[in-house]
Amino acid sequence: MSATADQPTTKVPRPRPPRRLGLSGKLLLLTIPLVMIAEVLIYVPAIANFWMNRLNDRLAAANTAALVLDAAPLGMVPDSLARQILRSIQARAVAIKMGQQRRLLASADLPAAIDHDIDMREMTVWSAITGSFEMMLESGHEVIRVIGPASGDAQFIEVVTDEQPLRQAMFRFSRNLVVVSLIIAVLTAALVYLALHFLFVRPMRRLTASLVGFHEDPESSARIIVPSQRGDEIGVAERELSDMQRDLVSMLHQKSRLAALGLAVSKINHDLRNLLASAQLISDQMASVPDPRVQRFAPKLMRSLERAIAFCQSTLSYGRVQEAAPDRRMMSVEPIVAEVRETAGLASDASITWITAIERGLAVDADPDQLFRVLLNLVRNAAQALESNPNSDRPMQIRVSGRREGAVAILEVSDTGPGVPQKARDHLFEAFQTSGRPGGSGLGLAIAAELVRAHGGNIQLVEGTIGATFRIVIPDRPVELLSIRNERARA
Ligand SMILES: Nc1ncnc2c1ncn2[C@@H]1O[C@H](COP(=O)(O)OP(=O)(O)OP(=O)(O)O)[C@@H](O)[C@H]1O
Ligand SMILES: [Mg+2]
Repeated sequence: MSATADQPTTKVPRPRPPRRLGLSGKLLLLTIPLVMIAEVLIYVPAIANFWMNRLNDRLAAANTAALVLDAAPLGMVPDSLARQILRSIQARAVAIKMGQQRRLLASADLPAAIDHDIDMREMTVWSAITGSFEMMLESGHEVIRVIGPASGDAQFIEVVTDEQPLRQAMFRFSRNLVVVSLIIAVLTAALVYLALHFLFVRPMRRLTASLVGFHEDPESSARIIVPSQRGDEIGVAERELSDMQRDLVSMLHQKSRLAALGLAVSKINHDLRNLLASAQLISDQMASVPDPRVQRFAPKLMRSLERAIAFCQSTLSYGRVQEAAPDRRMMSVEPIVAEVRETAGLASDASITWITAIERGLAVDADPDQLFRVLLNLVRNAAQALESNPNSDRPMQIRVSGRREGAVAILEVSDTGPGVPQKARDHLFEAFQTSGRPGGSGLGLAIAAELVRAHGGNIQLVEGTIGATFRIVIPDRPVELLSIRNERARA
């Protein structure tokens, strides 16, 4: 755990951005221009088409009229009939071109000048669109000439007609079209809006609300989102968020439990240090008693108390879950093993046979206090395992061996007890993992492993032995070539 992670997390309120349009508002704002674009896309071709159809209708009617007028004897039609025909096709004049000749078949109230010519033979989509809009934008009583293909032998036919009725028809058509398409567009937009709102906006709001609520109170499991059964991306996001929130809540709970435990340990440590200090005072006074037995045990007692006080002190001043970095030096293994034996009370325990098999003069590059604690934990565990199994046929033995392989020192603590139970093996070196032994806190091996790892070494349970064997491997620190060179130079 890093030092910063241990610091209390003070929540700095994040300035919230000013509340702008939500997703629904944005969706609505987007729908309106889209509906307008759809309207224009429908309206423009429709009105151009309407305009062309009307002009073609005029030409078709004029063609029929031309047949009638042309069929009259001597090409003469009574004036009143000609007017009637022209009125029925809403034209002022009809003319056809045959060969080199242009014939006016009928005319009535012809104005002095024609305002526009519209040639249907050269009509394109674009000219239909511009023509229709030009006509709608004009306002006077213009007269137009429409030219188009003629039936029979004629080359083309011309109809002179008023613009005004056509324009009014176009306005009527436009109004109807706009009203109908607007109704359809608004209905469609409303349906799309509602569908998007229920499908996406509402679940997104739920996700956002859960995130905001969780941020306000991350330790409350009531704030964890309940994922829906959706199979799409939003469903995945809900499930992932829910898992993440659950993990976070349990991590925070564990963290606060550990923080409370840490505080409790610090308090215990503090008072324990004071109690040990007074025990040290008493043992100081005991050291002056001339009894030879007291003289034998008092230094050991004082050494133990000193060690315990130093340990309490370093934990308190260090104030963290982490151990202090090892203060390593080349130290002899045999004396420390003997001290461990005495501290564990095994020197005077006749029921357990103590065997040491340490290479003569074996030295290990370690922090003496920390190596002492590692070995003491292992030896205590071994003694506890043996004592838990007193009726076994096997002799009760603890064996500590040590050897060197190159730059690595290997120490082993074995016992002839029942072995590590399967239940304890999976998380053997993790804190608070015990097999349920009464009085065990499950910290001994976790501490030992942490201390050994701080030396760059490792600790493991050796498989396939009688009882249990723990092996510690501690490599020497890498030799710094520079310092060797300096030493040589000095020599
Ligand atoms: N030599 C051993 N023989 C059999 N079981 C062992 C041995 N050493 C450890 N264990 C098992 O491993 C478990 C964890 O040991 P660990 O030292 O971490 O905790 P503990 O001894 O229960 O408590 P404490 O924190 O007081 O040491 C023990 O509960 C025990 O079941
Ligand atoms: Mg233990």
